Amino acid sequence: MTATLIDGKMVAKQIRMEAKKRTKVLKEFGVTPGLAAVLVGEDPASMVYVNSKAKTCKRLGLYSEVISRSLDISQDELIGIVNDLNNNDRIHGILVQSPLPKHIDELAVTLAIRPDKDVDGFHPYNVGMLLINKPQMISCTPYGIVKLLEHYELDPSGKEVVVVGRSNIVGKPVAALLMQKAKWANATVTVAHSRTADLAAVCRRGDILIAAIGSPEMITGDMIKDGAVVIDVGINRIDDPETEKGYRLVGDVAFDEVAEKASFITPVPGGVGPMTIAMLISNTVTAAERLSGAVK
Ligand code: GUN
Repeated sequence: MTATLIDGKMVAKQIRMEAKKRTKVLKEFGVTPGLAAVLVGEDPASMVYVNSKAKTCKRLGLYSEVISRSLDISQDELIGIVNDLNNNDRIHGILVQSPLPKHIDELAVTLAIRPDKDVDGFHPYNVGMLLINKPQMISCTPYGIVKLLEHYELDPSGKEVVVVGRSNIVGKPVAALLMQKAKWANATVTVAHSRTADLAAVCRRGDILIAAIGSPEMITGDMIKDGAVVIDVGINRIDDPETEKGYRLVGDVAFDEVAEKASFITPVPGGVGPMTIAMLISNTVTAAERLSGAVK
């Protein structure tokens, strides 16, 4: 392997430690940042995520609540829970874990969250503010990617960034973030997706390639420009009878062959993943700072 590993675990730890210090300052003003996570149903992956978010909060001195409801909850009841959290002074960050059951309109629930408590950054107000270069709550994975670039001094300014994937929660916001006129941005951004003609040729333009497709090891060595920085957002389970669990986690990037050509690369796990949760905590502390007015 020739590429340098981008250590998301280490950078995430630094961000968590900063959040812990900011929490301590807030507590001196009598404010404890609070995160509420709403979980509908018992999807094992969602339960792991939500419990891990809550545990991390507690470890860093934040207050956290997990509100669990069964799959048959109505949309109105769920929106009622969100409204209560909107009005709850102990809570500064609200997240409703997705996916939600089919009978619930996810957008209606997102719209119910107060934008200044929307620590996922999914509310159209926050998405729109990002697009007009007035970011308020920045969604966690895109924000985490920018923090990784910043930590390794990989300035995207003037560079060709190719984002593969156009999801509302990663592809589109990371493209918006990196193209804007701002520090650690100013990139020339291309967003490629499943209908892109000659995806390999488009990817090879990227000085920075961000893979957020959700397709195991789809980005192969021949799609990489020599010396590119490769950010792998994918977390995919693939069967592997040789492991104890019977599966292993791989990204959207074929790691070994891509690492031969890249200058920097994020591993899976231990790259972007830990950053997402660290930025969620950081956003919650930011929301508490703003809502309490305690820290200018
Ligand atoms: N489901 C998977 N990832 C996320 C996330 O970052 N936020 C929420 N709310 N749900 C998710």
